Amino acid sequence: MVEPAGKRYHWPEPLSNPMRHPASALFRSTFGGRPRTGASAPGRVNLLGEHTDYNGGPVLPVALQARTTVVVGPARDGLLELVSSRDGEVARIDWRDGRVEGWGAYLAGVVRELAILGAAPAGGARVAAAGDLPVGAGLGSSAALTVAAAKALAALAGARLTGRQLAGVAYRAEHDHVGVRCGVMDQMVAALAKPGQALLVECASAATRYIPFRGRLLLVDTGVRRELTRGRLNERRAECEAAVARLRLELPELLWLASWPVSWLARLKKALPEPLRARALHVIGETTRTRFGAQLLARGRLKPFGRLLYESHESCRRLYQCSAPELDLVVAAARRAGAHGARLTGAGWGGAVIVLLGKGEGGRGNGERPVAEAITRAFQRAYGREPTITPVRPSGGVRREPV
Ligand code: GLA
Repeated sequence: MVEPAGKRYHWPEPLSNPMRHPASALFRSTFGGRPRTGASAPGRVNLLGEHTDYNGGPVLPVALQARTTVVVGPARDGLLELVSSRDGEVARIDWRDGRVEGWGAYLAGVVRELAILGAAPAGGARVAAAGDLPVGAGLGSSAALTVAAAKALAALAGARLTGRQLAGVAYRAEHDHVGVRCGVMDQMVAALAKPGQALLVECASAATRYIPFRGRLLLVDTGVRRELTRGRLNERRAECEAAVARLRLELPELLWLASWPVSWLARLKKALPEPLRARALHVIGETTRTRFGAQLLARGRLKPFGRLLYESHESCRRLYQCSAPELDLVVAAARRAGAHGARLTGAGWGGAVIVLLGKGEGGRGNGERPVAEAITRAFQRAYGREPTITPVRPSGGVRREPV
């Protein structure tokens, strides 16, 4: 949390053991007795490649330090008994029932998918979840929950799944069972991230590559929460599918919007009416930007990489129309303050901005604090409140936790 301009800043310390106490304590106070095992998974910020994953393009996320921890124990009656630190209320659900609502639907989806792999706990399970990831901030909190739950519940069943299997279980839980038409980015990075690295995922092939990240990042959470995000994400995805259907008249073998040849943009513009044209132009431009950005990042060229972040934000704002005034203001303030780059991160329509700074110029120019102060001042002037600003250190993916 950034303090008002003029005061000393306090950067939050990483939690040494984020979950042992809250999730295990919640389990004990709710169900009595100790959990059997547990796992945690991180949230994420995406550096580049927004709304490309479900279009078969590349994404370039890093995992956050903020994590969700899930601890589990056996249950007697074949049911799932769930409690989360968010509201402390206990839900008892039958995971075979397709009509489960709320966060229980994510867990029911995870168990159904684990069952397909023969990795679901036979007698049901008790589950407690807690963490320090804000929900609805566009930071991949649902993937952190499902990936951690998949690992913990598989461990309870005595099964050990690979990171890719965990990502697949979590993705299908959200996409097929809950009905959020997301891509694979959040689950892949929650399962596969490595400390200090960004993860390039080519979503059509699921090919991955780790790229060392040597810059510095600030996460600016505007506090704007849009309940509509899921609805809008599904709407955008439907628009992209409509665009592909029309473009197949031009190129019958087209599978993914991101695969449209860049040299055929004039043809695309002619073939598509608005808003499908704008959506498609974003996806194709963002695909090129992300592949180029990954090369720049791999060579440590942070300044030109940062310029791509600004371009990406502009494309999200103008073409994909998934920004919000608060996000635009933060990006503009970061630019004025000399940040290498800034853009909305995640689905958009609210949530957070990621700000890229150089390797550490010792307080000159685009140091963390002057940039954070400038953003805070601009936000305060416009909205009469402060955003939450935290430094991001790329972290590791899912892991077992002591309970
Ligand atoms: C949400 C989805 C992701 C991705 C982003 C937009 O976070 O869960 O799969 O589509 O939006 O890039």
